[in-house]
Amino acid sequence: MGRKSQKQISKSKKVIKDTLRTHKYAALGLLFVALLAGTIAVKPDGDYEPEVLPPPPENALYTQPNAPIEERVADLLSHMSLDEKIGQMALVDKNSLKNIDDTRKYRIGAVLSGAGAKPADNTPRGWVNMVASYKTAASNSRLKIPILYGIDAGHGHSNIPGATVFPHFIGLGASGDVDLVKRVAAATAMELDATGVNWSYSPNLDAPKDIRWGRVYEAFSDDPKLIASLGQAYVTGLQESPVSDDSKTFVLATAKHYLGTGSMLWGESDNKDFEIDQGKTAADEQALTDEYLPPFAAASDANTSSIMVGLHKWGDGTIITNQYLLTDKLKNEVGFKGFLVSDWYGVYERAGNKYNATVKAINAGLDMAMLPYDYKSFIRDVHRAVDRGDISKERIDDAVTRILRQKFQAGLFEESIKTTPTPAKIGAAEHRTVAREAVAKSSVLLKNKDNLLPLAKSSNSILIAGSGADNIGRQSGAWTVEWQGIDGNWLPGGTSVLRGIKSKVERSTTVRYDRDADFVAGTKAAIGIAVVSEKPYAEGWGDNANPTISKEDREVIKKLRALSDKVVVVIISGRPLLLNNDQENWDALVASWLPGSEGAGIADVLFGDKPFTAKLPLPWPASLSQIPVASDGSTADSTPLLYPRGHGLASQ
Ligand code: BGC
Repeated sequence: MGRKSQKQISKSKKVIKDTLRTHKYAALGLLFVALLAGTIAVKPDGDYEPEVLPPPPENALYTQPNAPIEERVADLLSHMSLDEKIGQMALVDKNSLKNIDDTRKYRIGAVLSGAGAKPADNTPRGWVNMVASYKTAASNSRLKIPILYGIDAGHGHSNIPGATVFPHFIGLGASGDVDLVKRVAAATAMELDATGVNWSYSPNLDAPKDIRWGRVYEAFSDDPKLIASLGQAYVTGLQESPVSDDSKTFVLATAKHYLGTGSMLWGESDNKDFEIDQGKTAADEQALTDEYLPPFAAASDANTSSIMVGLHKWGDGTIITNQYLLTDKLKNEVGFKGFLVSDWYGVYERAGNKYNATVKAINAGLDMAMLPYDYKSFIRDVHRAVDRGDISKERIDDAVTRILRQKFQAGLFEESIKTTPTPAKIGAAEHRTVAREAVAKSSVLLKNKDNLLPLAKSSNSILIAGSGADNIGRQSGAWTVEWQGIDGNWLPGGTSVLRGIKSKVERSTTVRYDRDADFVAGTKAAIGIAVVSEKPYAEGWGDNANPTISKEDREVIKKLRALSDKVVVVIISGRPLLLNNDQENWDALVASWLPGSEGAGIADVLFGDKPFTAKLPLPWPASLSQIPVASDGSTADSTPLLYPRGHGLASQ
């Protein structure tokens, strides 16, 4: 099954229930208001035909590329009907658009491929054709307003097999390297642009406080200063790099998830499937302002086009309905000029009554709703709310102005729709070089007894084992082709850690590999390398009461310990794992996070072609009782951390 299977099943049921409940009471009123307003012709199936309007004046100011952007926005707004404006505020999942032409018919502002929502032909060509079909439909609308096509490119254009998969953000956080992060984002923008995608739901600016949360790896760090500087670099790299020689368009960034995401407490999620994810933020107003807001303010200073509002709660209410945080703080106090977009089904997630939920969110300051299914009812509800005075026309104009401003700034009105891919950009050698550099710069050397690392390329025998040694799927983690990722060594173009090591050592060195470390009796080696790993997981499905190294991988380490003079453990994981003091028996320990497609970058640091420079971007707890760890590093039970944030040894 496609995108977000589990989530989608439960959500579809909820959608049907909510629709029935809302419309039982509202249907007659809605029909009456709509007919009275004269804009909606109701068809027998309850669907509606948008009004037919005359074409705009020829050479309207907004069509003139050299006119100032603010004037183009105002001019375009003056030609738009209410439904055309509301359509701009709708972000629809491509799998939910019943008909591609609905993009034109309902003047949809943006379409998304949520993770896993790929074309049947999941190749660069398939993507170009898919994105172009929605863009073309939108270009046939009366005002020809281009759409945004958005995806989650949190670690490259990772939906396409063969694209460069960069380390997840936690690894980039460990690198602490602003220039590198900018180059990673620029390379990502180039791969996106090669398929016509012009909007990414990244960077993630969450600040995780609990390693049990399933989204730790999506964040750079728990340190607001580091998040702010890397977030800013990422926004700049994505939005300001010339993405291709023949186009001045850029890829819009989305800083997410506003605000306080990462401080939620275990057991406080009211999503029955999750423990932390989508829960209640524990940060009080002071912490929100001092710790969580600065990275978003920094992204706003870097002109991030959009900011995504999280699915969590603050106090008794949802963030999405919090006017104080959305409008007073972010738009008025910080001065954010882009648009606010909700998260997946975020407006309706906890709402009984969809009409009221929509009104509250838009009045709180939401500009574009990631619906992702209900675009027709959204347009009807907002139209009705404006007619009834529940939402002001000024609020709608403000939202649409913000969206159009970004579309003009990105040059989308001048863009010619890409119909042929530039496949050379997808997984390009120069992008893989940046990714490999990022892998080396993000691997943290936690322990190095007797300076065992770097290893000699001529060590006479090396044993390699563990679930992560030859598994690019695990290296890449979730949000790779499928929402929950894929476990296995199947991604084309990349290198596993094993392959990286094999091509690194001298010919005279014997490298033997067995995933389970079941080597023939009598085997002995100078070095045993265990590459242990977590299975991929995304969002609340990764909430884990006790994140540790799996039983199988612990067995592997034990076996290697018995067969080798020295043991090196490399951890491939989305978060610090509880080691239960096992590390005392290992000679060296490296945390390589989720490095992506270029496993060779790990071999680069293990064998000294590149130095270890990375530092822990967040604290590594010794036990569960230390969680949550405050941002100053103090633990819940006041005992010392296994390794504090900032720990990281140098190898040379
Ligand atoms: C996630 C967002 C993501 C969105 C679109 C949501 O479930 O929380 O981070 O951008 O889906 O895929």
